[in-house]
Amino acid sequence: MQQVTLNTLKETKLAGKKIVCLTAYDAGFARLLDKAGVDVILVGDSLGMVLHGENTTLKVSMSDMIYHTRIVKAGCERALIVGDMPFMSYASPAQALGNAARLMSEGGAEVVKLEGGAVIADTIRYLDQHGIPVCAHLGLTPQSVHKLGGYHVQGRDEDTAKQILEDAKLLEQAGAVMLVLECVPHQLAAEITGSLSIPVIGIGAGAQCDGQVLVLYDILGITERQLRFSKNFLEPATSIQSAIENYIKAVRSGEFPAAEHQY
Ligand code: KIV
Repeated sequence: MQQVTLNTLKETKLAGKKIVCLTAYDAGFARLLDKAGVDVILVGDSLGMVLHGENTTLKVSMSDMIYHTRIVKAGCERALIVGDMPFMSYASPAQALGNAARLMSEGGAEVVKLEGGAVIADTIRYLDQHGIPVCAHLGLTPQSVHKLGGYHVQGRDEDTAKQILEDAKLLEQAGAVMLVLECVPHQLAAEITGSLSIPVIGIGAGAQCDGQVLVLYDILGITERQLRFSKNFLEPATSIQSAIENYIKAVRSGEFPAAEHQY
């Protein structure tokens, strides 16, 4: 079984094929995703909402992330594992280095994900210089929910759209190896995807991104959230395995996201 690496993702982008990503938080689901052929498993701090029942991701701790990344890794042979750095675990480059090293060495993450724009460029550079691959996260950044005033689409006006595009280019230059783009208009996501050579994975960012990510519990209808950009893939399916396979097929064929899922 060929393991998915950052090189695989770059080749997938260059070939114009879609990268399939889903979140997972434990070994059982990770095994299902891995066997079905998901390329990237994100151990998201969304676990604070979908597992812990909180309204935000802010209470998720470093120990939570290490624990869940470790048990996801235990169920996984092929997919690339991206682990989220929780709120305030990367407020300075030195703090980020210590915590990212733990997420990789104790948790088994292969890439760490950080939310934010230009303000984290130096941190990304510092982690990159120390051999730590970073996935950046722009657009709707849930750890900034209170600053943003809620979970709203970002980049709708010209100034914020320009800022997100500039941040994306800056973070790539700083050494980011991937970018997650959350809840931005599809035209902006398409422009960013075309401007970067690193893979851009969208969630609520339209079909032109290099790949798609969704929260596993949302596609299985476990959460009650009715999100415009998500879809319950269990509805026509007869098992969790086939729901995951349907999601993979829909992303690879370009069928998902459809016009009704984008902004
Ligand atoms: O925490 C998470 O699951 C995420 C995705 C929603 C992109 O960051």
